[in-house]
Amino acid sequence: MKARGLFITIEGIDGAGKGTQIDHICSYMETEGIELILLREPGGTSIGEQIRGILLGQNNAEMKAMTELLLFAAARAQLVREVIEPALAEGKWILCDRFFDSTLAYQAGGRGLDRDMVQQSILLATGGLEPDLTLYLDLDPDVASERRARREESLGNEADRIEREDMIFKRAVRAEYLRLAAELERIVTIDAGGDPLSVWYEIQQTLTPLVQKHRGGK
Ligand code: TYD
Repeated sequence: MKARGLFITIEGIDGAGKGTQIDHICSYMETEGIELILLREPGGTSIGEQIRGILLGQNNAEMKAMTELLLFAAARAQLVREVIEPALAEGKWILCDRFFDSTLAYQAGGRGLDRDMVQQSILLATGGLEPDLTLYLDLDPDVASERRARREESLGNEADRIEREDMIFKRAVRAEYLRLAAELERIVTIDAGGDPLSVWYEIQQTLTPLVQKHRGGK
């Protein structure tokens, strides 16, 4: 039987620079000869991508917090069963751009939904699956907003429904991420305030021992 794969997630507020770091991680794993499946939440399956459209659609401003919570859970339930569990069982490594820590940070922290209720929705969706490692890119929301504004100006990207939330919401999201990171050993906090290459070096230091261990186990 093949050894189970490794499940890595990457988290952070909008504008923390996840995209750039995901590119680095993918190239690094390729160089190391590790097959890595890249997924994103919400999304990663055909059904999940349809749900993503509803969740992030700018026309859905009337969406209630409970509806939002359950849609994230529905997309996740599909992703876990259709893709993540089978891939891990085959020994593949997965990098998921956001997972349930986002729900705790955004729906419990940001929206203020009851944490126990949010936990229950997570458990239903995941069946108890947890990441082996979570890279949390920590950034001050003010800095993130400046970065976003510059990107929007140069690329013409428009903010989605959740990105349009105010600074109070964003600060609450970050506070919840920091609370989770202080509580859980699987979460490694990376200071995302530096230049992208120094952020990447910090991430690489966390990944290298895992890659070496994987080699040793082969
Ligand atoms: P996305 O465009 O993927 O943002 P990013 O590039 O910052 O990851 O949009 C995902 C949005 O959905 C993002 O604002 C965070 C939010 N979100 C939640 O509120 N709860 C969740 O459980 C997840 C997975 C995402």
